[in-house]
Amino acid sequence: MARVDVVIGSFFGDEGKGKIIDYLSSNAKVSVRCSGGNNAGHTINVDGKKYAFHLIPSGILNKGTKAVIGNGVVIDPKVLITEINELKANGISVDNLYISTKAHIILPYHITLDKLLEENRGKNKIGTTCRGIGPAYCDKFERSGIRVEDFISPKFSELALINIENKNKIFECYGYEKLNAKEIIAEYQEYAKILAPYVTDTVNLLHNAMENGEKILCEGAQATLLDIDFGTYPFVTSSNPTIGGVLTGTGVGPRDIGEVYGVLKAYSSRVGEGPYITEQNNEIGDLIRELGHEYGTTTKRPRRCGWLDLVALKYAVRINGITGLAVNHVDTIGKLEKIKLCVGYEHDGKIDMNYSTNAEYINTCSPVYEEFEGNFGDISTIKSRSELPEKAQKYLSRIEEVVGVPIKFIGTGAERESMIVEA
Ligand code: GDP
Ligand code: IMO
Ligand code: MG
Repeated sequence: MARVDVVIGSFFGDEGKGKIIDYLSSNAKVSVRCSGGNNAGHTINVDGKKYAFHLIPSGILNKGTKAVIGNGVVIDPKVLITEINELKANGISVDNLYISTKAHIILPYHITLDKLLEENRGKNKIGTTCRGIGPAYCDKFERSGIRVEDFISPKFSELALINIENKNKIFECYGYEKLNAKEIIAEYQEYAKILAPYVTDTVNLLHNAMENGEKILCEGAQATLLDIDFGTYPFVTSSNPTIGGVLTGTGVGPRDIGEVYGVLKAYSSRVGEGPYITEQNNEIGDLIRELGHEYGTTTKRPRRCGWLDLVALKYAVRINGITGLAVNHVDTIGKLEKIKLCVGYEHDGKIDMNYSTNAEYINTCSPVYEEFEGNFGDISTIKSRSELPEKAQKYLSRIEEVVGVPIKFIGTGAERESMIVEA
């Protein structure tokens, strides 16, 4: 039986998962997305061309790799069709795309609700991507969501009509314009026709693939600290991007899991609101943002930037059972003269490695930093860790030492080739 290797974000997303997935999926026969929706944005740079993936597993770039959208994903059909068309326009075949019958559909009322809820939160806003993700998951758990299998069936118009009429009552209360059910249903029935050929029972597809010895790669989206259970609630997304979500979002079992790669940057970033203890809301954060081009792939928002937090990384290691680390943007951090690394939290005069998502507790903690030498020079073509400048090796070794997990990938630049593989 082949195993499922998993790529998971260790912090607040945008750690460069796409790049690691791109490398690993060249050896995988199947690439699967398990949670989230088009709130994700994964950038892959190939031969000077930039690909931004939101819904389709980026494994689609490898000819012959099956790209599966698992049952745990919420799908905006309009976005998916745009992504399919963009890939086709770039000469990339989507014949190997498979969409789970059990995934849920994002409809226009989810997007309107997402905006309405954010407006109502006022100063307590979450800073969502306003893509309808939260409301679509709410409907799934409330059991009024529309699954792909119903979306492509004659049942769709009746199910959608009930939902639109119900949501219109809410929109009316808040003074929002009501949605036109007839128009939406007609438009989305056209999308359903386009997507129907890709729909399949992905649970059996994945298990049959494993039985045939086909390696599977699970492409994590979002990240540990955005997890609905383990993240900095309520400043989180509405799914489980951690290891549990891999099982519930695909139907593979715990014993099917092989390597679990935790992706991080040599510094950290966050989009949206919420606690972030190593944030540098100052000229250092601004410098990191400019050097690392830290502007969102999905919403283009400037990302908040700061130092790498090993207390939070250890938390990600604990929760996900991470077996190997992928550290990206070592080139970027190496452009700074001095680098700080958070190696513990000080609370009530004691220093420990216990991360907490409790905002009040976090506010009473102060990060304990160690300082490292930067100025690594151009490392983008280096192919082995031992050839990196000693200053860079020292920084990386300290990360491994503190969290107790080996580094298997080192990102040395944005391009596909700019990576050191130690796996
Ligand atoms: P994801 O959501 O985790 O897949 O990450 P994003 O694609 O949203 O953001 C990561 C950004 O960093 C992208 O623009 C990547 O091209 C870029 N990137 C990834 N790894 C490296 C690296 O090692 N060095 C540099 N300079 N850029 C990188
Ligand atoms: P990738 O896969 C970074 C953040 C949003 C917001 C919060 C909730 O590219 O790493 P949502 O729209 O999900 O309800 O927003 O979660 N967020 C992300 N931040 N990268 C992502 O995905 C994200 N997906 C959601 O900014 O703070
Ligand atoms: Mg991203």
